[in-house]
Amino acid sequence: MARTLDHVEMDKIVSLCKRRGFIFQSSEIYGGLASTYDYGPLGIELKRNVRDAWWKRFIQDRDDMVGIESAILMHPKVWVASGHADTFTDPLVECKACHHRFRADHIDSQTCPNCGGELTEARNFNLMFKTNIGPVEDTASQTYLRPETAQGIFVNFQNVLTATRKRLPFGIGQIGKSFRNEITTGNFTFRTREFEQMEIEFFVKPGTDEEWHQKWIDLFMQWFIDLGVREEKLRLRPHAQEELSHYAKATSDIEYSFAWGWGELMGIANRTDFDLKAHTQHSGVRLDYFDDEIEDPDQKHYTPYVVEPALGVDRALLVFLFDSYDEETIEGDTRVVLHLNPAIAPIKVAVLPLSRNARLVPKAREVYDLVRSRFVAQYDDAQSIGRRYRRQDEIGTPLAVTVDFQTLDDDNAVTIRNRDTMQQIRVPIPELVDTLAECLGNSW
Ligand code: GAP
Repeated sequence: MARTLDHVEMDKIVSLCKRRGFIFQSSEIYGGLASTYDYGPLGIELKRNVRDAWWKRFIQDRDDMVGIESAILMHPKVWVASGHADTFTDPLVECKACHHRFRADHIDSQTCPNCGGELTEARNFNLMFKTNIGPVEDTASQTYLRPETAQGIFVNFQNVLTATRKRLPFGIGQIGKSFRNEITTGNFTFRTREFEQMEIEFFVKPGTDEEWHQKWIDLFMQWFIDLGVREEKLRLRPHAQEELSHYAKATSDIEYSFAWGWGELMGIANRTDFDLKAHTQHSGVRLDYFDDEIEDPDQKHYTPYVVEPALGVDRALLVFLFDSYDEETIEGDTRVVLHLNPAIAPIKVAVLPLSRNARLVPKAREVYDLVRSRFVAQYDDAQSIGRRYRRQDEIGTPLAVTVDFQTLDDDNAVTIRNRDTMQQIRVPIPELVDTLAECLGNSW
């Protein structure tokens, strides 16, 4: 639906997130840990819904997809084979006076932007977080926190193939935490050092990779639009040759138009057979495919190509917040509202007694129990009904059910208020659950 605000400033989102319990600064009472965030009670509901929407659309609803969950810690050789040990780096310069470090490609000046001091020559800095396994902290025990979930899929390619007997084309998806010691962070949860990814590695016959690349771009564009993101706020940006990662033949980013400009929401890469071949070479285990539909015996074994749609959960969540946020003027008052799609809204239905009147409360609790048996619901009886509607609007609750004296004395019915239109309908309590389901588009 149309918005009053064209662009939403970051401070409004940060302030709403803290005020209403979506996202908090990590370790805030100790002054905060830079670029790390905690999800509060509403934030975690929203995050779970985003993950679930992804998992349902791309894993459960497709016959050509399966899911896995691999460990964050992997054998250190994985990162040598994948190329991350050598090439997952940013060029850094360091100030000789204040020792601040900056990404060489992000600063224009020859001197330190912090204190004006002299800068060192640029040198490459690996973005992976090092850690040690076991009690001895030597190089033999050293490994990394994974910087992408993708490698956990590649190393399990043969396991999944054998266990599921899938035929090409098919894909493996997973959702999990990744870690990068990012030099340039900022813009709230847009770029952080600990984040969550939802990644798919889709294995295809070489030669069909470009067609599948385009298919996955279209599928993800549609997913965002189906979840309510306005089409005009999304665009596709193919990477220039010099921008491509070491493994990619082609990558296109889906970008979102933030207040500060276009920013990457996700990347869809054609990773070719780079990873499966690299792991075959480094592990000595053949990660290839036997194609029984090919007649020529010399051609039957080949390494599949991979198309990879990679999306950050935190970044998707941020886009859903930005895109749904609005401030509307109603009878001289400002209403802050999140027009979240019901499928991802943290709370689907609020149950509100007209007041805390002793006669109303038992009936309202009864209605609440009925509603929460089917939907994620919240009971709220503090302050005036108008304020409670505003509070629910601000957290994106699509529907509010109000129990009043007419419910008790007259019709055993309640009103349902729609967050977006603010229109109300009166519904008999025995029909309430079905009507709510219909109003939510059966997509909660
Ligand atoms: N496996 C491929 C891969 O990881 P990427 O473009 O580096 O590709 C994919 O990351 C997505 O993960 C990004 O488009 C973004 O949504 C998310 N992401 C990457 N780095 C992030 C960070 N530091 N903070 C938050 N999200 C991040």
